[in-house]
Amino acid sequence: MNQRKKLFIRTYGCQMNVYDSARMADVLAPLGFEACSAPDDADMVIVNTCHIRERASEKVFSELGRLREHKDAKNRRGEAMVLAVAGCVAQAEGAEIIRRAPYVDIVVGPQAYHRLPEMVARAARASGSTGGKGSGVLDTEFPVEPKFDSLPLPSNNGPSAFLSIQEGCDKFCTFCVVPYTRGAEFSRPVADILREARHLVAHGAVEITLLGQNVNAYHGAAPDGGDDGATWGLARLLYALAEIDGVERLRYMTSHPRDMDDELIRAHGEIDSVMPFLHLPVQSGSDRILEAMNRQHSVDDYRRIIERLRETRPDIALSSDFIVGFPGESDADFAATMKLVRDIGFAQAFSFKYSPRPGTPAAMLERQVAEPLMDSRLAELQSLLGEQQLAFNRAKLGHTMAVLFDRDGRKQGQALGKTPYLQSVYVEAGAALRGRIAAVRMVGAYGVSLAGEVVHPVELAVAS
Ligand code: 5AD
Ligand code: SF4
Repeated sequence: MNQRKKLFIRTYGCQMNVYDSARMADVLAPLGFEACSAPDDADMVIVNTCHIRERASEKVFSELGRLREHKDAKNRRGEAMVLAVAGCVAQAEGAEIIRRAPYVDIVVGPQAYHRLPEMVARAARASGSTGGKGSGVLDTEFPVEPKFDSLPLPSNNGPSAFLSIQEGCDKFCTFCVVPYTRGAEFSRPVADILREARHLVAHGAVEITLLGQNVNAYHGAAPDGGDDGATWGLARLLYALAEIDGVERLRYMTSHPRDMDDELIRAHGEIDSVMPFLHLPVQSGSDRILEAMNRQHSVDDYRRIIERLRETRPDIALSSDFIVGFPGESDADFAATMKLVRDIGFAQAFSFKYSPRPGTPAAMLERQVAEPLMDSRLAELQSLLGEQQLAFNRAKLGHTMAVLFDRDGRKQGQALGKTPYLQSVYVEAGAALRGRIAAVRMVGAYGVSLAGEVVHPVELAVAS
């Protein structure tokens, strides 16, 4: 009954979406779907969308237009292709997608994808009566039954695995769509997370990256049952995860400065497996702009957090997100951002031009910064951040670091891995390094990567 079917998922956006795509594949596996690498001949195609970037919706519609050609070609051969749109654009646009792209079969929001098997069945039933059109099955609810309770344990993710522990956001930064597309903050219970972590380790994971839009706001139900509503914060969860045999590396993202509490900062100093790297977006170096963004922290708060982190873990490497050209950003505001970057020194960072998201408070603001000015500010900021990243990489030349090899390189015989500081390293290595942590001496340092040589012996063999 469950004959094999091909599933193609195109993923846009953040790690959260990468994780969701893997879970959608898991949930569809019992129906006979297996992942394939191109959409042409797939029986089902899911476009897992991201709403953070500019003109996200328009890009999705043009992608759907291209996929329609594959779907039509299959139809002409007398076969069917289920076309689904998932993720934040699905949540934000909902029925508009079915109106503008009527050949789409399924629109599913990030909180409803555990119901995909049922939706696929409904789409199949409807397809007989829609005369070549899509089946128009829509589910963008925030269902009462928690999604995670209905999902199977994930299939193997390899040596470096993602684990979603928290979703949604209650912070309402004025530029951001996440509180609208992902909904209110929700934390998974500790027991579920520990079970999933043990499962990942049993299937070859040595590194676990905990995911959440606002991950350090985590406050999941304590594992010892009890109806007293006791919860654990992220720090306590990290201590428990570190106890699991085989968990060599722990990371978490994305954090908010407001939720960087003392216990979490202490955990960075006390838990060896918590990697010395933190992605902590600041967005701007100007208090005036932070206020207008409703970030709920000042520049000084941010500086103090970094100071305390560095006291606890002197080698911690930092990463951040920046937005330039937020409405009303003056030359002085932008200069304050540049000063903050110079003072702190980032190992890597992401920076974006502000772009209004429909429905967010900032989209209504006057004094939008002119495009050419945004361009020059972004170029200036990126040039400084690029210099800092290169300097950080160069400072590691000649050093030996533990590298977790999680991928094969593009060239034959090349293996790719990550240092504790999340730098990408490639080595020319005949022996299979995938799934191992090896001691590697850095022999080349570039803008976004390092070249290394394995120092024998390999420290630790993990996955077979
Ligand atoms: N314009 C520009 N950048 C944005 N981001 C989120 N919303 C917007 C927007 N409207 C950036 C923020 C956030 C990152 C994931 O994307 O820097 O931290
Ligand atoms: Fe968006 Fe992050 Fe602000 Fe939440 S904390 S509203 S996810 S930028």
